Amino acid sequence: MSTRTVIVGTGSFLPARVLTNSDLEKTVDTSDEWITTRTGIKSRRIAARGEETSMLAAGAARQALAMAGITPAELDMIVVGTITPDMTMPSCACLVQQELGAENAFAFDLNAACSGFLYGLDLADKYLCQNPAWKILVIGAETLSTRTNWQDRNTCVLFGDGAGAVVLAGDGKGRGMLGSRLFSDGRLWRLLSMEGAPSLNPDLARPENDGSYIRMEGREVFKHAVRSMGDAVTRLLAEQGVAAADLGLVIPHQANLRILQSLAERLGIPLEKVYINMHKYGNTSAASLPIAMDEANREGRLAAGDLLLLCAFGGGFTWGAALIRW
Ligand code: ACO
Repeated sequence: MSTRTVIVGTGSFLPARVLTNSDLEKTVDTSDEWITTRTGIKSRRIAARGEETSMLAAGAARQALAMAGITPAELDMIVVGTITPDMTMPSCACLVQQELGAENAFAFDLNAACSGFLYGLDLADKYLCQNPAWKILVIGAETLSTRTNWQDRNTCVLFGDGAGAVVLAGDGKGRGMLGSRLFSDGRLWRLLSMEGAPSLNPDLARPENDGSYIRMEGREVFKHAVRSMGDAVTRLLAEQGVAAADLGLVIPHQANLRILQSLAERLGIPLEKVYINMHKYGNTSAASLPIAMDEANREGRLAAGDLLLLCAFGGGFTWGAALIRW
């Protein structure tokens, strides 16, 4: 039996500070009722000043490595999906490498917005197929609070900070990554954008510097997210000869409960099979999939042999899906 990429450890790290919808009611013209009914989000975590993306990423990585029983020195490759790196250079991944002491790995960042973790997983899978003895760390980590315009009620209620990580290794027992499908459409970039500045840049604090903040045409993003993720999943399942009814669990990017309800309906998947934790963390972009995977794993929602479907959609636009036998 050929070697497949298997997830041998998961981890997540969330900042301690909780920002609730009621807290937001005090600073912008919104209400818990509006945010809950339109998005399903009740609270989100916010990184403390000086708590950078690389620190959240390293926290998640340590947990994933501990579960895998692998030391940092055993890692061959580190990929961090992020749109909020501490700096433009070095990469967040190199800072994580330093923080962990993973001196034998090569490390780099990958920008595919909310699909960043999925793109990283796809890439790591290809590397592992070529190098079955490798150990690879794939992380999704964000401090979106640093790029949120806290005066803009259209966006500030949606996002949160956090990190999630998986450790990948080769395994010949038939389980692991069965396939993945990635897509992009750069023609639509203006519907969801964030023009600049890493989080350590002091210019971020200047109110006139609004190009650094997230801008979004919410309704358009919503429509594209449902359609694109739905198409990606349908295509991947057809390619793999898997029926929606065979799936044990679906973990989608945690953007908005209504997006997930529409997606589940479109695919004919009961909502009970869709993992949801956005009420606690909001949309953490690239971190959302690995945080949800870690929570689902630790809650015992994933049994050996289950078919797990991942899907994501984000700025770019970028989107895709992956199928894993757990
Ligand atoms: N509180 C109260 N009212 C608000 C708020 C708020 N936080 N935000 C917007 N409104 C108002 C609007 O101003 C508008 O008022 P108006 O009718 O007087 O003009 C009204 O609510 C309706 O606004 P819409 O934008 O039409 O509301 P909609 O039902 O589309 O919901 C939302 C907005 C939640 C942003 C939705 O479009 C959405 O979820 N889109 C997807 C966006 C997303 O998930 N982006 C994340 C990045 S991409 C990804 O991760 C998939």
